[in-house]
Amino acid sequence: MHRILVTGGAGFIGSNFVHHVVAHTDLHVTVLDKLTYAASREALAGLPQDRVELVVADVADAAPVDECVARTDAVVHFAAESHNDNSLDDPSPFIRTNLIGTFTLLEAVRRHGKRLHHVSTDEVYGDLALDDPQRFTEETAYHPSSPYSASKAGSDHLVRAWVRSFGVAATISNCSNNYGPWQHIEKFIPRQITNVLDGIRPRVYGDGLNVRDWIHADDHSSAVLAILERGRPGETYLVGADGERNNLDVVRSILTQMGQPADAWDRVADRAGHDRRYAIAPDKLRAELGWAPRFHDFEQGLADTIDWYRNHEAWWRPHKDATEASYAARGQ
Ligand code: NAD
Ligand code: DAU
Repeated sequence: MHRILVTGGAGFIGSNFVHHVVAHTDLHVTVLDKLTYAASREALAGLPQDRVELVVADVADAAPVDECVARTDAVVHFAAESHNDNSLDDPSPFIRTNLIGTFTLLEAVRRHGKRLHHVSTDEVYGDLALDDPQRFTEETAYHPSSPYSASKAGSDHLVRAWVRSFGVAATISNCSNNYGPWQHIEKFIPRQITNVLDGIRPRVYGDGLNVRDWIHADDHSSAVLAILERGRPGETYLVGADGERNNLDVVRSILTQMGQPADAWDRVADRAGHDRRYAIAPDKLRAELGWAPRFHDFEQGLADTIDWYRNHEAWWRPHKDATEASYAARGQ
C-alpha cells in the first residue's frame, strides 16, 4: 500500500487522520472533499505537498470518484453530513452524501478491486438506558434514532452487502463521540468553549444527563490506521476509549477550567429523539489489533482543546454568529 484516498479529509476527523498518516507512515494521501460548510482548507495547511493532494469533488459524483479510486491502493471513507441537529432540520443532504455517496464509492472500489475502510458511528445502535450495565459491541442490533444515524446505519448495510455479494475487501469502524482541534463549533464541546470565550452561558439540552463516550480525535485516527493496516476484511471494529460522561459534567468541567462558576449554564429545548446514552466496548479492537488510546486523561484533553480554541479564534470566529443564529431559531 503506497497511496490512500481519504474522503472527507478536510473535515474534523478526516483532517486529523491525514496529519496522523503523514506523521506515522510513508503513504501518499489524496483527499477527496466537497468542502462543505464543515470543511476547512486550513486544517490541511502546512502538510508536505509531495505527500498530500486535495481534489475538490462530491463523493456522490461518480466520475471524479472513479478517477480517484482508480489511482489509489486503498480508500478511507470519512465524507458525511455529520450533525444530528442539522439532520432534523433537513435530512436531504444526509441521504445524498451518506447513502448515495457511500454507494458511489462502493461501486468504484468494486470496479477497481480496491480495499475500503468505512468510518461510521456508534449511533447506529440507538441508545442505552443510563443504568444499563451493557455497552455496545460488534453484535449489538442496529436501532438508529435520527435521520443522521439512520443514514449512517444504511451506509454500513451497503458496505456489508458489497462485501458479501461482490467480495469487496472492506472493513467498518463505529466510533463514539470525538473531541479535539478543528471540530466545527456547531458541535457540543467547541460550541460551549466558544460560548464561554464570548461571554455566553453554555446551552444544555433537556436535563443534561445524556451520556456520551468521549474519545480524542487522534485516538480515533490511530484506530482507523490500525484497522486499515491490520484489520480483517469483512470485519467491524468498535472504537472507544472508556470516556463516558454526562453533558452536565462536561459543561461544568469547561466552565471550571475557563475560570467560571460551574453552574453558569442554561437549560434549553431538548433535541427531538435525543439519544440517552452511548457506550462502547472496544475489546475486539484492543485484543485483535493491540490498539490502545493515547489520551487517557479527559480533563487534560479538554484543557488542550480549550487552549486550541483560544488560540484559533481567527478560524472559528467567521462562523460563530451564523451558528448561534441557527441554534436560536430552534430555541437552543
Ligand atoms: P465533519 O462534518 O467535520 O466533516 C465532514 C467532511 O466531509 C467535510 O470536510 C465535508 O466537506 C465532507 N463532505 C461532506 N459531504 C461531502 C460530499 N458529498 N462529498 C465529499 N465530501 C463531503 O465530520 P466529522 O465529525 O469529521 O466526521 C467524519 C466521519 O466520522 C463521518 O463519517 C462521521 O459519521 C464519522 N464519525 C464522527 C464522529 C464524531 O464524533 N464527530 C464519531 C464517529 C464517527
Ligand atoms: O457518537 C458519535 C456521534 O457523535 C457522531 O456520529 C456525530 O457525527 C457527532 O456529531 C456526535 O453526535 P452527538 O449528537 O452525540 O454530538 P453533539 O456534539 O451534537 O452533541 C453531544 C451531546 O451534547 C448530545 O447529548 C447533545 C448535547 N448538546 C449538544 C449541543 C450542540 C447540548 O446539550 N447542547 C448543545 O448546544
